[in-house]
Amino acid sequence: MTMDRALDLYDIQGNICKGYGRFGFPKARYFFLEFHQYAGARAFLQQLIPLITTAEPWSEKDHPDQSDKPQATTNIGFTYAGLSALGLPRRSLDGFPLEFRMGMKNRAGILGDEGPSDPANWDPVWQGEPVHAWLSVNGQSRQAVVDRYRQIEQLLQQSQGSVTIRPGHKGPQGSLQPWQDASAVYENGRVTPKEHFGYVDGIGNPYFAGCGNDPSRLPGRGKLTRDDGWQPLATGEFILGHIDEAREYPIAPEPHLLALNGTFMVYRKLHENVTTFNRYVDRLATDFDGSRELLMAKFSGRWPDNGAPLVLAPDDAAKAELDQQLAQLTAKAAAGDHTAATELRALKAKWIDFTYNKDRHGSRCPIGAHIRRANTRAALETEKDAFNTPSALDDRRRLLRRGLPYGGEDETPADDTEQGIIFMCIGASLERQFEFVQQQWINYSNDFHLGNDRDVLIGANNGQLTDKHIIQVNPKQGKAPFFCTHLPRMVETRGGDYFFLPGITALRMIAQGIIDPT
Ligand code: HEM
Repeated sequence: MTMDRALDLYDIQGNICKGYGRFGFPKARYFFLEFHQYAGARAFLQQLIPLITTAEPWSEKDHPDQSDKPQATTNIGFTYAGLSALGLPRRSLDGFPLEFRMGMKNRAGILGDEGPSDPANWDPVWQGEPVHAWLSVNGQSRQAVVDRYRQIEQLLQQSQGSVTIRPGHKGPQGSLQPWQDASAVYENGRVTPKEHFGYVDGIGNPYFAGCGNDPSRLPGRGKLTRDDGWQPLATGEFILGHIDEAREYPIAPEPHLLALNGTFMVYRKLHENVTTFNRYVDRLATDFDGSRELLMAKFSGRWPDNGAPLVLAPDDAAKAELDQQLAQLTAKAAAGDHTAATELRALKAKWIDFTYNKDRHGSRCPIGAHIRRANTRAALETEKDAFNTPSALDDRRRLLRRGLPYGGEDETPADDTEQGIIFMCIGASLERQFEFVQQQWINYSNDFHLGNDRDVLIGANNGQLTDKHIIQVNPKQGKAPFFCTHLPRMVETRGGDYFFLPGITALRMIAQGIIDPT
């Protein structure tokens, strides 16, 4: 698979290729539709299509002839129930993968959605029958989001009851909202890349062939090669109708055009228990040999304040040195020093361009740290040259993360206030990618030889002694590993489902009712 393989970016929904947050859209609104009558619903979709944002390149310096970045974006996805309600032929419906047909609620056992995360405790919008469609609006400003939302609301009104919004999202001060608003976290009025526990987020994301993103973003984001280089992941890992890493076409419904350039998306409202998190860190920090920030980094694999990976700066002294180097280079680059600017770029590239090859024992980045679980890079190749490519066991489990934080705007975050992450991730196979990572790598540790340990941040931990995370040390230093025991539930699932995001051609076919699988 080569990097320049042409993809029809105009036929692919924009959120698949672009993480809008990074492209300057810090505000979003997600809302969910019910179709009551399929002719009216299809008519609504036909009117909506011109508003759908595609993956076409936006005018940047290297694309001067391309269209301008819009003020707001719009994207759509359907549940299996939604596609049924739109009258798709049975044969097409039956071609969708089982986990998509079952929906997220029915996969609770696999996903670890138990106890406080049990679907019975999810927001009202998720109770009862599944929603039919997900609509998302991202905006450069909240006003842009509201304007686009109003535009869509008018189309809904014109549908005369054929399509309605399913309300029931828990919001601030005990409110129930018709929609789910999301926003980047702001500090002193300025947008930050942080989530509510205080970590910088949104750094690691896969790079795939034809995605249209700047090739300078490839190192650290693609798949590893034997000579320590990086290649784009196969398109079919993320988009249906294209060859994947197994050199096969991903499982997809018929006809081919219904699937082509579409994909699947996980939507998951993940509540963050901010008080529980802070108390736990405070308590442990008193016994831990290092700063509070280092302890937080040992949970996630990256330093909370600037996302530097632990493999680059594994302790407080190394971090202080790195920060100093960063500050000096930034100052010199700002003063016009080109050499410093180049060095700064090379240093920042190390934030993402790394492996765990020289950290087999986890003394820099713990083996069970969140990012080391979620993207193992080549860490599962325990014997050199065991596979065709070093990251072979990871390449088929990559996730395109597309979410944003929510809450924290109107109230100070605590356990009983509404804040967290609207986690959205995209992949050609929900089962092989998201579900596998969630079940085997987040909530279980056999692949890492860590027994039943779960992820500190998002694992289904329950405060028991055995709910633990081990911070490994260099065996040569003669120190004991640090055991974080009694891990509480830091994150709880508050709802979600699986969505099919069709390509634009397929969306037209759905809207016109002309899908013929024969
Ligand atoms: C509230 C919930 C979550 C929090 C607070 C959280 C936090 C973080 C943080 C701080 C990072 C490091 C920044 C970065 O590399 O971009 C990260 C990375 C990542 N997270 Fe999460 N996360 C959450 C949910 C999830 C879930 C549910 C999954 C998948 C099942 C996941 C998968 C990943 C992946 C794949 C990466 C990138 C790893 C890499 O490429 O090196 N996260 N997350």
